[in-house]
Amino acid sequence: MHGSIFTALSALFGTRTYPPQYPINDLAQSPAMGWNNWNAYACNVSETMLLSTAAKVAALGLRDSGYQYIVLDDCWSNGRDHNGELQPDREKFPSGMKYVADQLHSMGYLFGMYSDAGSYTCGKYAGSLGYEEKDAKTFASWNVDYLKYDNCFNEGLSGTPKITAERYRVMKNALKATGRPILYSMCNWGEDLPWNWAHTVANSWRMSGDIYDYFNRPDARCPCTGEETYCAYPGYHCSVMNILNKAAHIIHTSQPGAWNDLDMLEVGNGGMDDEEYKAHFSMWAALKSPLLLGNDVSVLDAKALSILTNPAIIAVSQDPLGVAASRMYRYYVNDTDQYGQGEIQLWSGPLSGGDQVVILLNAGNISRTMKASLEEVFRQQTGISPEVSNDWDIYDLWANRMDLELAQSIIDGTGKPSPEVYYNATETSYKDGLAGGNPVLLGKLVGKVGAGGTIEREVARHGVSMLRLRKTVGSAKLQSAVQQPFELSGTYTN
Ligand code: GAL
Repeated sequence: MHGSIFTALSALFGTRTYPPQYPINDLAQSPAMGWNNWNAYACNVSETMLLSTAAKVAALGLRDSGYQYIVLDDCWSNGRDHNGELQPDREKFPSGMKYVADQLHSMGYLFGMYSDAGSYTCGKYAGSLGYEEKDAKTFASWNVDYLKYDNCFNEGLSGTPKITAERYRVMKNALKATGRPILYSMCNWGEDLPWNWAHTVANSWRMSGDIYDYFNRPDARCPCTGEETYCAYPGYHCSVMNILNKAAHIIHTSQPGAWNDLDMLEVGNGGMDDEEYKAHFSMWAALKSPLLLGNDVSVLDAKALSILTNPAIIAVSQDPLGVAASRMYRYYVNDTDQYGQGEIQLWSGPLSGGDQVVILLNAGNISRTMKASLEEVFRQQTGISPEVSNDWDIYDLWANRMDLELAQSIIDGTGKPSPEVYYNATETSYKDGLAGGNPVLLGKLVGKVGAGGTIEREVARHGVSMLRLRKTVGSAKLQSAVQQPFELSGTYTN
């Protein structure tokens, strides 16, 4: 009886699966890692630049740290031929794009390219709007594995989530129809609230205007601060703190296969100091942004290499649970700098195996002792999680960072990464390494915090303390929920 009603209804309305078209494919189960030329080279692209960078990324040990996509950004094309097919600029790419893809594949990489959901790209080269099927086929025929899809010259097809989603969905369907697995990286700068819907369209979506190489310097070209409910002009020249303060409100929408993209990394480009770059990298990892190197690797310095290869931080990014950390507190502090009000923040999130990542972020202008009570770390909507009643071992994720002498010797070609400070993800995935308890992924055991206790760490100016909490073996593990309303305690005054 029920069966026949069901059959009749499905004949009328068709069967429906929910959620629709999600996930779009089985790619990006953890955030994509790779290198993209835009931050360091902008339009100055070529076959030689791309292939020599790829060779250098491998020689520095970065490919085997997990940076597996080499992504060519804007300015590669020479318009369309008489059949309407996109053509590479033969001066920049004399051997064509398939050659580049094949070379990269033979070096153990995946290959990313760029186009735009508009009539032109942002650099005013041919865009893919209206040519989606043709271009998707072209990319697939070139053996492309990843498409970054921009938002310039979109002919006014934006302004509501529905209009934007429909425009981006056309390319999603076209890529799918090629039958080739192609990671789809949407780049519409957070316009029309993609975190609400883009998991049905893409593997990742930019949530802000373009990053620039400063920690907290405001710039009128990036006018939104994260305090407004709708950002009408995402802009560019957005600092690390600006992007983080926007991400705080929406980052929980990330999930395996579908990530908020905080934009490419600036580590190594020279506009921030070592603490600031450590903070930038830590936050991008804990918030599960794609990690795309954005530097000229031929001039990479030892500090940048030691940051970008830190296995204990990358293990958080690539953790199989795939949950982004949340901001648990934000306080303003009195030590301002020329860029305005300083602030401190606590971020925390679950990792696989019952671990927890905790980040104390000091965006004030002096070094300070920062505190995080377990109640703040494990705060939930329903009160405080029972995890507060456990004892926890504390691992510092920066303490075992590769020393600068070793990093320099790798850059000079005289040294090799050693397994005490380096992880080879080509040999064993982060997922398997974590499951097997590889100590290089855990950082350094620096102390404990007892049930209901408080963590205290020294945090450098514009720096972080990034920690992994792991239940102390044999700790009481009380399961009773501590149901208390959460209260912000205003103890930070400077
Ligand atoms: C911007 C995009 C940048 C870069 C640039 C190329 O819209 O956000 O990441 O791709 O276009 O012109």
